[in-house]
Amino acid sequence: MKTRTKLISAGRPHARPSHPVNPPVERASTVLFPTYDDFLEGKRRIAYGRLGTSTHRALEEAISVLEHAFETRLAPSGLQAVIAAMLAFVEAGDDILITDGVYDPTRKFADRFLRRFGVNPIFYDPVIGEGIADLFTPRTKAIVVESPSSLTFETQDLPAIVAAARGIGARVIVDNTWSAGVYFQPLTLGADVSVQACTKYLCGHSDCLVGSISSADEKSAQAIFHSLLQLGANVSADDASLVLRGMRTLHVRMPTHEQTALKLAKWLGKRPEVARVLHPSLKSTPGHAVWKRDFSGSSGLFGVVLKPTPVAALKAFFNALRHFGMGFSWGGYESLCIHVDPDANRSATDWKEDGPTLRFHAGLEDVEDLVMDLERAFEAMALARAGRDV
Ligand SMILES: Cc1ncc(COP(=O)(O)O)c(C=O)c1O
Repeated sequence: MKTRTKLISAGRPHARPSHPVNPPVERASTVLFPTYDDFLEGKRRIAYGRLGTSTHRALEEAISVLEHAFETRLAPSGLQAVIAAMLAFVEAGDDILITDGVYDPTRKFADRFLRRFGVNPIFYDPVIGEGIADLFTPRTKAIVVESPSSLTFETQDLPAIVAAARGIGARVIVDNTWSAGVYFQPLTLGADVSVQACTKYLCGHSDCLVGSISSADEKSAQAIFHSLLQLGANVSADDASLVLRGMRTLHVRMPTHEQTALKLAKWLGKRPEVARVLHPSLKSTPGHAVWKRDFSGSSGLFGVVLKPTPVAALKAFFNALRHFGMGFSWGGYESLCIHVDPDANRSATDWKEDGPTLRFHAGLEDVEDLVMDLERAFEAMALARAGRDV
């Protein structure tokens, strides 16, 4: 069976003589065991609501198919999934290497929290590749990769990082949210753990927060399970069910996100207001050759650096947008555009662009309407620049 087919059947009920198409939403705190033997048996599987019910197991099964994982566990958000994965592998006195292009709240957790508990985060250039070995110390225990970076879109050489990490027994954790697991499988390239904010593409409808942690082997899976257990992580069955529902159409949605993003990126690249487009499929985006080698496609998230633009003109641009919403997160059916500040989220490398950076998420609207929306916004920008009312 191909992955697409497996994802349609993963986690589905099979009880006789009849059953609904979808797994039931099993909400629970207490789970009852009819006999003492059942209690002993059940303790090893579904024992208490916080450890998940059959609804959670169904979603975990589907994500394991997508990520080619030994096991997947859920977390209440993408951020907590990355945090639980980091906490699974480090202790006081350890060093943890983290890409400089990492999602900013992940950076802040490492900088503000791990440090307080004696774990030392060291940030590295996203395109460091095998050069990462130069940053290793006898205390390096884990490497956090996010590829491509979700503000600046550099793709990382995961096989080179994995090869270096193997030499010192450090665990490699990958935030795989950008590819949705559709266009990239870090575990097949040797990573130990692949994390996703299911909040984005897997859910696909901007109405819930869930994270997933997929492990390549039993040892990593045990560490992840205990990390989530000790953190008291809990995901509602309703949210797990929403993500599973989203996953059934993931492979239909992603090519539209991909094609629309490519068309928009190309169109934006020709605009006089644009200095640079940040998209892994472009040769000018660092890591492009690695992306071409390791990824089978691209998602809907990309960036654009504008030529220096007065604030009033930028305001006019955003206020003129009708189809692109201004809001955090991404991966839903609706297009988004926000102003981001990569410079504020870096420490190992400099972001040298003069103009503002915008991040786009291409949704499922007709691309012609999206282009017209941007045309209108650029017109408003030009009027504001000329000092005229919009
Ligand atoms: C790359 C990446 N990882 C993780 C997260 C965190 O996900 P959540 O919002 O579900 O906590 C985000 C959210 O924007 C993200 O962009």
